[in-house]
Amino acid sequence: MASSNGNRSVEAADVLTIFGITGDLAKKMTFRALYKLEERGRLDCPIVGVAIDEWSVDQLREHAREAIAATVEDPDEDVFGRLAARFSYVQGDYADPETFERVAAAMGEAQRPVFYLEIPPSLFSTVVKGLGDAGLTGNAHVVIEKPFGHDLESARALNAILCEVLDERQILRIDHYLGKEPVMDIAYLRFANSVLEPVWNKEHVSHVQMTIAEDFGVDDRGRFYDAVGAMRDVIQNHALQVLALVAMGPPTGNHHDSIRDKKLELFKATRTADPKRYVRGQYEGFLDVKDVAPDSTTETFAAVELAIDNWRWSGVPFFIRAGKNLPVKSSEVTVVFKRPPKLGVGPNKQPDPNRMTVRIEPTPGARMRLFAKQAGEEAYEPADLEVLFEKVPGAEPEPYERLLGDAIAGRHQLFTRQDTVEETWRIVQPLLDEPGPVHPYAPGTWGPPQAENLTRGICQWSDPWLP
Ligand code: BG6
Repeated sequence: MASSNGNRSVEAADVLTIFGITGDLAKKMTFRALYKLEERGRLDCPIVGVAIDEWSVDQLREHAREAIAATVEDPDEDVFGRLAARFSYVQGDYADPETFERVAAAMGEAQRPVFYLEIPPSLFSTVVKGLGDAGLTGNAHVVIEKPFGHDLESARALNAILCEVLDERQILRIDHYLGKEPVMDIAYLRFANSVLEPVWNKEHVSHVQMTIAEDFGVDDRGRFYDAVGAMRDVIQNHALQVLALVAMGPPTGNHHDSIRDKKLELFKATRTADPKRYVRGQYEGFLDVKDVAPDSTTETFAAVELAIDNWRWSGVPFFIRAGKNLPVKSSEVTVVFKRPPKLGVGPNKQPDPNRMTVRIEPTPGARMRLFAKQAGEEAYEPADLEVLFEKVPGAEPEPYERLLGDAIAGRHQLFTRQDTVEETWRIVQPLLDEPGPVHPYAPGTWGPPQAENLTRGICQWSDPWLP
């Protein structure tokens, strides 16, 4: 098939088949992402939707239209028309082999399908086996969403099920944080600037802090969240992936595993977490959320200190905190450098440390905090070098658009490999085994006071850099 954007690789998919297309994720994320890809001319394959619901293809198109109207500002009728023309629909029970025969028929002559499983992990096995039995997996790639297990053992078990039918290279695991432009920017900033690399190590860095804060609660996700908690929901995956980009060594060789190999190396050097350096909190009111157990001890806030045993980072603490119902929505990572000595310039005190922050949300950007002379005074004052990664509004690909587009185009570097999934579970496993008490906190605060103890003697949690 000809390329519409000029960079279609030989591995590009020739059909996208979405299981669970009538579900919530498709409604909130997928149709929007497909619309955006269509708008940019990045879609050139048919799309087969599969689900249990007795829908016609016209009902699917109507549903897509509504989902797009709810998530895209002022959608263009021509773009929607081109997208809608790609759809076909297969109704069926995933346990029924005939469903997969109909899927095969709908896929026609396609040789390189991408199957996107927007279904609960408990159904992965049934669907992947159905695809395999129907002879559809030979050249296929299968996209799945977290959670990839709920601990190390279940992550391995899930993978063993998938690998009965698929090879590792066929499985594309989505961590949507990796599709965020500012997260990708971390590697660019680090490795495109030779001034940073010489100071990016234990000789110059005092500690690293990361915050993933949300200023809203669990809302209508009580059932999902109560079984998961902040550690599994965002730290084991999103936060550790960001940490790897901040701390890994420079990728070598420009191939699809360059960065993933370096991340794996970093995770392998990351010490298995110590439950004594872990604080959990639960916001007041969580127990009243629909579908949350009345005696739930699930954490809605987690803070942890991690350590990396390699030449670059030995002795440098990495602090991560994440939670719901905190004062702001903010996601950022800050590398804090060592304080300069007291010298014969300015006030008779040590200047504060330089710090480099990458802000993922809100308003992505990076800031290097330097210090300069306060005008008219013998005093230091912050002189920040700031860059906002602003693009033309609406032009920046969003995570699902980027990742789905990559899956279709045959670019796999932003998907998570099983070896790193297992390493990240290994790192947090003791915190799951010995979670310790959960401390209450008032909504709108920075978690329980115990989180302050974690950093005591080393640093204080810094206020997020807000626009
Ligand atoms: C998801 C979590 O993976 O990430 C959510 O399940 C969380 O609980 C979300 O809110 C945060 O990502 P974003 O991109 O919405 O900030």
